[in-house]
Amino acid sequence: MTDGIPQTPAFGEALPLAPAPDVLAFLARRRSASALGLRAPGPTAAELSDLLRIAARVPDHGKLAPWRFVILEGAGKDAYAARLEALAAARPDATKLLAKLGKLRTPPLGVAVISRTTAGDIPAWEQLLSAGAVCTTLTYAALAMGYGANWITDWYAYDAQARAVLGLAENEQVAGFVFMGTATEAPQERVRPDVAALTTRFEG
Ligand SMILES: Cc1cc2nc3c(=O)[nH]c(=O)nc-3n(C[C@H](O)[C@H](O)[C@H](O)COP(=O)(O)O)c2cc1C
Repeated sequence: MTDGIPQTPAFGEALPLAPAPDVLAFLARRRSASALGLRAPGPTAAELSDLLRIAARVPDHGKLAPWRFVILEGAGKDAYAARLEALAAARPDATKLLAKLGKLRTPPLGVAVISRTTAGDIPAWEQLLSAGAVCTTLTYAALAMGYGANWITDWYAYDAQARAVLGLAENEQVAGFVFMGTATEAPQERVRPDVAALTTRFEG
């Protein structure tokens, strides 16, 4: 476990609500870092374990845990990238597809967040939203640890043969690849939406 990160609370433990101004300050200014600018060192094994534990603490209607993680690191990540390269090389748009693999090759660590929906009372849409929440939380937690992080998908999240390389079942989809590492340059603020223009108040 990483110093300063509390353990998972015991089941049923009281968790009093308290303001967290540091969290608000972080959220108000955080930015993802370019995946192509991420270098070693990435999160350690203990930090990754904490990141996954934190990422799994998301709202989840029905407590289905409708997601799982695939760690992409070291020789495993190289092997995954090599399999994707072989697929890309055989395609008419090989140059474009191969170029996209830089975002997988460059960062020292990636986590594929796999959404896995099951039929039942909880709509699949809600299960997908929960997987998105995992991606967001994982990205933010890595940033809060001081690493650069970026949530991407790219062609190999959707391509049928690439899905098979990752071992996805019929009911599974890549919600995101969250790449992490040490950012080589500070990200710059990007364009943000005009929130007021996107907000209305229901008045009956
Ligand atoms: C589901 C999803 C998929 C994304 N896929 C890509 C991608 O394939 N390539 C890319 O450059 N950015 C992609 N992005 C956007 C990156 O995460 C982008 O860097 C991010 O919007 C930066 O925003 P932030 O600084 O507010 O975190 C994706 C975002 C989401 C939510």
